[in-house]
Amino acid sequence: MSEANEYSSTKRPRNWWLLLGSILIGMGLFSSVFLVVLEAILTAAPYLGVLYLLFALAIVVGLGMLLVGVIQRRHVADPQRKGLIAKIRFTLDLAKRSHFYAIVSIFMAGMFVLALLSFGSYKSYRATESASFCGELCHSVMHPEWTTYQTSSHARVACVECHIGEGADWFVKSKIDGLRQVWAVTVNSFSRPIPTPIHNLRPARETCEECHWPQKFIGYRELVRAYTLSDEENTAHRLRMLLKIGGEQTGFMKGSGIHYHMLIAAKIEYIATDERRQNIPWVRVTRSDGSVTEFDSLDSPLSEAEKAGAEVRTMDCMDCHNRPSHQFMAPMSAVNMAIEQGAIPRTLPHIKVQAVRALSHEYQTTDQAMVGVANSLRNYYREEYPQFVENGSEDLTRAIQAVQAIYRGSIFPEMHASWSAYPDNIGHHYSPGCFRCHNESMQSAEGENIFTTCTKCHLILAQGESIDDVKVDFRTGLTFVHPEDGATIEEYVDCVDCHTGGGGVYE
Ligand code: HEC
Ligand code: HEC
Ligand code: HEC
Ligand code: HEC
Ligand code: HEC
Ligand code: HEC
Repeated sequence: MSEANEYSSTKRPRNWWLLLGSILIGMGLFSSVFLVVLEAILTAAPYLGVLYLLFALAIVVGLGMLLVGVIQRRHVADPQRKGLIAKIRFTLDLAKRSHFYAIVSIFMAGMFVLALLSFGSYKSYRATESASFCGELCHSVMHPEWTTYQTSSHARVACVECHIGEGADWFVKSKIDGLRQVWAVTVNSFSRPIPTPIHNLRPARETCEECHWPQKFIGYRELVRAYTLSDEENTAHRLRMLLKIGGEQTGFMKGSGIHYHMLIAAKIEYIATDERRQNIPWVRVTRSDGSVTEFDSLDSPLSEAEKAGAEVRTMDCMDCHNRPSHQFMAPMSAVNMAIEQGAIPRTLPHIKVQAVRALSHEYQTTDQAMVGVANSLRNYYREEYPQFVENGSEDLTRAIQAVQAIYRGSIFPEMHASWSAYPDNIGHHYSPGCFRCHNESMQSAEGENIFTTCTKCHLILAQGESIDDVKVDFRTGLTFVHPEDGATIEEYVDCVDCHTGGGGVYE
C-alpha cells in the first residue's frame, strides 16, 4: 500500500484497514442489535430477517480488514520481514495480556457471527416460506394469485403448504426454481399469464389430504345460486341443488357420489392434448372390481402412436379443484353475486347485461379498465336512460364503483390473468369442467359413454324467482329449466357452446 510509505516508522501511522474494519464491525454489531429491537416492534415484516445475513457478512469483512491492517502494521513496524508467512507469523504467548485478550475477542466475535448467521438463515428461511413473501415480494407478478388467495377458503393456508412439500428435496427444488423465477422477473422474461398447470406442484396426497380426508365426505352439499336475467327489470332467478359429493364412510349416502367413485372405488387416468388440460381425448377407468374401460373421443381421437407418446395423468383432487385458492370469477358469476347482495342496484334497467359487457371488454391496464368501465356504463345510460345520469343518480355511481371493484378483484390485464386464462374445472357452466370427459363424444369400444345424466351428479330442489318452497321427489329432483327460454334440459347439452362466462352469451 502506498500510503504506508508516507509515514515515518517512528510515528504510529493511521491504518485505514484497521479503521474501516473496526467501523464495519461496529456497524454490524449495532445494526443487528437494532434489528432485534425493530423486529420486536414491527411484527409483520418477514423479510427483515434477510438483513441479519448482511450484517454477519459486514462483520466478517470487517474482521478480514482488521487482519490485513494488523499484517500491514507489523510490516511497517518491521520492514525487514519479507514474505507473507513471515509477516503473519508471531509467537502466541497466553501469558501476554494482549495476546490473551486478542484470542478471547476473536473467539467471541466468531461465536457472534455464527449465531448471527444461523439466526439470519433461519429468519430468511421463515421469510421465504411466509405467504406475504410469496404474494407481495414479486408484487406485480403474483398480484393476481395473491388477490384471489386472500378471499378464498384457504386464505389462512400458507402458499408453501400447497406449493412446496415437506422435506429437504422439496426445499432445494423450490429454492432452485425460486432462483430461476427471480431471474425471470429480473430480466422480465416470465410469461403472462403464468402457465398452469404447475408441473412441480406438490401432489394432492401430500397437500389437500393433510387436511381433507377423501373417505370422509358427507353425502350431499347444498349449492344455492342466484342469477339475474337479461331483461330490463333484471329479474332474479334462483337455483337450489344438492351435489352428490359422497365419500366412503358416512352413514348417509354411504359409498356413493363424486369423491367415492372418482377417488376411492376407481382410478381414472387421462391424456390431455393442451397445456391447461382442457381437451381430453382419452380416458381409462380401473374400477375396484378390476374391470377396465377405455374411452376415446369420437370428435378428435388419438392414434395408437399418439397415445404411446403422451403423458398419462392419474386424476386427483387438483383435476377438479384446480382453483381452491385462486378463483378468477367469471363476470357472469361476479355480477350475479353483486346484484343479489345489493352492491349493484337491481333497479338500474339492464344493469346485468351492461355490467357483464363492461367487464368483458379488453383493456391494456387496470387504470384504463377503471376509466373504460365507468365510460361504457355512463355512455349507455346517457343514451338509453338519461334520467339516471342527469339527476346525478346515486344508483349509477354505486353500480360503477361495484363493477370497478369486481374488475380489480378478478381481472388482471397486466398479467393477462382472468377467468378465461384460468378456467375453473368444478362444474360445467362457464368452462368445460366435468364435461371434458362426461360428454357424448367420449365412447368406449362397446359404444358406452361416460355418463352425462344430470341427476347422477346433482339433484335440483327448487328453481325460479323463489326457492324457499321445496317439494320434490328426492330420488330425481326437478328437471332443469333453462332461464333464457324456459326450455327444460334433460339430456346432455354443452353449456359452453353459448356460455363463456363473459358477455359472449348475449351476442
Ligand atoms: C390450497 C392450496 C393453495 C394455496 C394455499 C396456494 N395455492 Fe397457488 N395454486 C394452487 C393450485 C391447485 C394451483 C393451480 C395448479 C394447477 O392447475 O396445476 C395454483 C396456482 C398458482 C399459480 C400459477 C398461476 C395460476 O393462477 O394458476 C401461482 C403463481 C400461485 N399459485 C401462487 C400462489 C401464492 C403466491 C400463494 C400464497 C399467497 C398460493 N399460490 C397459495 C394451490 C394453492
Ligand atoms: C392446511 C389445511 C388445508 C389444506 C392443506 C387444504 N385445505 Fe381445503 N380447506 C381447509 C379448511 C380449514 C377449509 C374450510 C374453510 C372454510 O370453511 O372457510 C377448507 C375448505 C375447502 C373446500 C370447500 C370450500 C370451497 O371453497 O368450496 C374445498 C373444496 C377444499 N378445501 C379443497 C382443497 C384442496 C383441493 C386442497 C389441496 C390443493 C386443499 N383444500 C388443501 C383446510 C385445508
Ligand atoms: C371428480 C371431481 C372431484 C375430485 C377428483 C375431487 N373433488 Fe372434491 N368436490 C367436487 C365437487 C363437485 C364438490 C362440490 C362442491 C363444489 O361444487 O365446489 C366437491 C367438494 C369438496 C369439498 C367440500 C366438501 C363440503 O362438505 O363442503 C372438499 C373439502 C373437497 N371436495 C376436497 C377434495 C379433496 C381433498 C379431493 C382429493 C382427495 C377432492 N375433493 C377430489 C369434485 C371433486
Ligand atoms: C359429471 C357430473 C355432472 C353432470 C353429468 C351434470 N352436472 Fe351440472 N353441475 C355439476 C357440478 C359439479 C356443478 C357445481 C359447480 C359449482 O360448484 O359451481 C354443477 C352445476 C350445475 C348448475 C349450476 C351452474 C352454475 O354454475 O351456477 C346447473 C344449472 C347444472 N349443473 C345443470 C346441469 C344439467 C341440466 C345437467 C344435465 C344436462 C347437468 N348439470 C349435468 C356436475 C354435473
Ligand atoms: C378425466 C375425465 C373425467 C373428468 C374431468 C371428470 N370425470 Fe367423473 N368420471 C370419469 C370416469 C371415467 C368415470 C367412471 C365411469 C365408469 O365407471 O364407467 C367417472 C365417474 C364419475 C362419477 C361416478 C358416478 C357413479 O355413480 O358411478 C361421478 C359422480 C362423477 N364422475 C362426477 C364428476 C364430476 C362432478 C366432475 C367434475 C367436477 C367429473 N366427474 C369430472 C371421468 C371424468
Ligand atoms: C344455445 C345457447 C345456450 C346453451 C347451450 C345454454 N345456454 Fe344458458 N343461457 C343462454 C342465454 C342466451 C342466456 C341469457 C338469458 C338471460 O339471462 O336472460 C342464458 C342464461 C342462463 C342462465 C342464467 C344467467 C346466468 O347468470 O348464468 C343459466 C343459469 C344458464 N343459462 C344455465 C345453462 C346451463 C347449465 C347450460 C348447460 C346445461 C346452458 N345454460 C346452456 C344460452 C344458452
